[in-house]
Amino acid sequence: MKRVITYGTFDLLHYGHINLLRRAKEYGDYLVVALSTDEFNWESKQKKSYFDYEKRKHLLEAIRYVDLVIPENSWDQKVNDIKEYNIDTFVMGDDWRGKFDFLEKGTRADVVYLERTPDISTSKIKEELSLNEGNDI
Ligand code: CTP
Repeated sequence: MKRVITYGTFDLLHYGHINLLRRAKEYGDYLVVALSTDEFNWESKQKKSYFDYEKRKHLLEAIRYVDLVIPENSWDQKVNDIKEYNIDTFVMGDDWRGKFDFLEKGTRADVVYLERTPDISTSKIKEELSLNEGNDI
């Protein structure tokens, strides 16, 4: 069985996320999503997600491409995760291109960057909703 892992916050789940998860799953038979915890988002990025960790986890678990959701608590856990879950392929969107190449040397996993889906992101949804605040529509 080929196992794949990817990382992210996946807040306000959108079609860019689904596209990423679908293509990640195509690299294997079992997809693990390491989901950033609320504490990790705050401590590492000063970001607060709209949906809390448990809600984001439930949404991801309902997606057919996702087999397991684990917490992402730190930047440094990736080597351990790859070993613990016997991961063959590490997948990220290409906004991270090059940043995780070191994992190919430290583990036996391949590192793959997938093209981001254009014109959609959690930040964009938040910005557009806040611009619309006060409008009657
Ligand atoms: N992703 C993607 N295409 C998009 C948006 C996200 O392929 N249009 C991928 C990212 O590259 C990452 C994963 O989905 O591998 C989770 O991304 P995340 O940062 O949680 O979502 P974003 O929408 O990029 O959130 P933000 O705007 O807060 O950065």
